[in-house]
Parts: sequence; C-alpha cells; structure tokens
Amino acid sequence: MTTDIKSPRPKIVGSDKVEAPYPIRFEGKVVHGFGRGSKDLGIPTANVSEDSIQELLKHKDSGVYYGFAMVSQHIFPMVMSVGWNPYYKNTVRSAEVHLINRKGLDFYDQQIRVIVLGYIRPELNYEGVQKLIEDIQIDIQVALNSLERPDYAHYKEDSFFRN
Ligand SMILES: Cc1cc2nc3c(=O)[nH]c(=O)nc-3n(C[C@H](O)[C@H](O)[C@H](O)COP(=O)(O)O)c2cc1C
Repeated sequence: MTTDIKSPRPKIVGSDKVEAPYPIRFEGKVVHGFGRGSKDLGIPTANVSEDSIQELLKHKDSGVYYGFAMVSQHIFPMVMSVGWNPYYKNTVRSAEVHLINRKGLDFYDQQIRVIVLGYIRPELNYEGVQKLIEDIQIDIQVALNSLERPDYAHYKEDSFFRN
C-alpha cells in the first residue's frame, strides 16, 4: 500500500480503447461488509462474495477500478475498491463496488454482475477519512469521464447484462 498519489489527479484514465486484460466480467452475491462504507464515508458499497472475484484477483492488484455493474436489472457506472481485508488477517483480498447515482436501491443478498473496464489508482493509506472521501469523489468523476468514451460506453449493452 502506498501513501501518496500525484496531485492534481488526471480527469480521465486509460486509453481510448478497452485493452487486455479488460473487460473482466464476474457475477457474485452482495454480502455484508463492516458497514463503514455507509456510516463513516456516506458512500455505500456492495461487498462482493469472495468466490466470485477469484478470476479478477488472478489478473489484478489491489487498487481502484471502474466499469459498469448491474443489480436487479438496473445498470450503473461503478467504481470498485479491491484490497486486503484486515478482518481476515490479510490472507484474503476483497472487492467492494460503489454504484454511481444509485438512489435507495437495496442490494444486500442480491446478485451483482460487474464488467471491469479499467484501473484508476493504487490503494492508498489515509490518515483521515476526509481525504479518503475526497479521493473517492474524484474516482467517481474519473470513472464517469472515462466511461463516456464510445468503446467503453457500449459495454452498458453487453450481453452479460441481458442473459
Ligand atoms: C472507489 C473506492 C475507493 C477506495 N479507496 C480506498 C483506499 O485507497 N484506501 C482505503 O483505505 N480505503 C479505500 N476505500 C474504502 C474502503 O475500501 C471501504 O469502502 C470502507 O472501508 C468501508 O468498508 P465496509 O463497507 O466493509 O465497512 C475505497 C472505497 C471506494 C468505494
């Protein structure tokens, strides 16, 4: 885990075309996390069951990713944090998805389908929660800007979200 990131941060990331190993698709169940996402950060996250992210973890390091996700037939742009979960004494990494512009939709125990299209930044170690919230707000903007590119935007219509 690093403790610093270059400032000012770029407003868009990755190349104009989706590049290998993306897209990475996975489906899993939304399980309960520690609940800090909602309470301390005001940024609710869907914790994805461990079994469903094994393929993703094979390819990818801890960090923040972006793409699209679907819960109960609704498709959202998303940012996802992949990191070590101290609860499991650093033996297991977990993934948490924040659905952008989701309003009041309950997702616990539901299936979530995720298409990861790119990487935003490494996982950082924050001293205070305020700086973390600011960086997540920037992640959200970066994801929205990056997903507007046609080669990314068309994944909203991906057959993975239709079957
Ligand atoms: C897009 C995004 C990026 C995040 N980046 C970091 C990070 O760099 N460092 C960190 O300690 N936590 C980061 N978090 C916060 C935690 O991973 C997590 O959301 C928070 O601790 C709440 O976890 P809980 O729901 O299991 O309680 C990020 C969360 C999101 C949604």
